[in-house]
Amino acid sequence: MARIIAIDGPSGAGKSSVSRIVGERLGMLHVDSGALYRIYTWQALAKNVDTSSPAAVAAFAPAVEIECRPENGSIAYYVDGELPGNRIRTPEINAHASKVATVKEVRDAVTALLRSLVKFGDLVVEGRDITTAVFPDSPNRFYLTASAEARARRRQKEEVEKGIANQSEEDVKASLLARDRMDSTRKYAPLKKADGVIEIDSSDLTLEEVVQTVLEAVR
Ligand code: DC
Repeated sequence: MARIIAIDGPSGAGKSSVSRIVGERLGMLHVDSGALYRIYTWQALAKNVDTSSPAAVAAFAPAVEIECRPENGSIAYYVDGELPGNRIRTPEINAHASKVATVKEVRDAVTALLRSLVKFGDLVVEGRDITTAVFPDSPNRFYLTASAEARARRRQKEEVEKGIANQSEEDVKASLLARDRMDSTRKYAPLKKADGVIEIDSSDLTLEEVVQTVLEAVR
């Protein structure tokens, strides 16, 4: 049976960097589940679906086709034969993704797709509901968090470095907090710290220190 390391936490806590490195060190594939919700959002916006209407998003969801391939240590997602790249990382997608992620039909489709990835081998899966809903029985479950300020600082720097946007740290923080609120108060599979998970606050830790904490705790 495939081994799963599940990592949840709010935006900007460092889940992607930590998961990628832990995956590399342990020979497990990194799975970014947030990218799947971003792809649904991107496709919905491209087709002029009203993302504030759960019924419209639910009706559109089955039209989204995502092909998954293991590539360079991660699961890569292809839509119509193309990698979405930074097209799913824009402030516009950030603003709509939490709404799309409230829709049960989207969540069910993403959850089924994530569970099917065990066919590719051992996985490090990061997101908001991996420890609670997607792989709740994994013995290796983590909740990675950080202060809102530390998270906004990291995200702002990342957006500038990747040439995605040039927002102020304050704007990035406001957008993060709005998403946290929506992600943790929604009806289906909200972000929460599950019982029995290992919590790591990365505010004052280096990336390597967080990676070491995870590696030492993995059974
Ligand atoms: O981690 P991220 O910022 O790329 O996530 C994008 C959106 O998807 C965000 O609003 C949270 C949501 N999400 C979710 O609801 N469940 C997951 N497992 C991963 C992300």
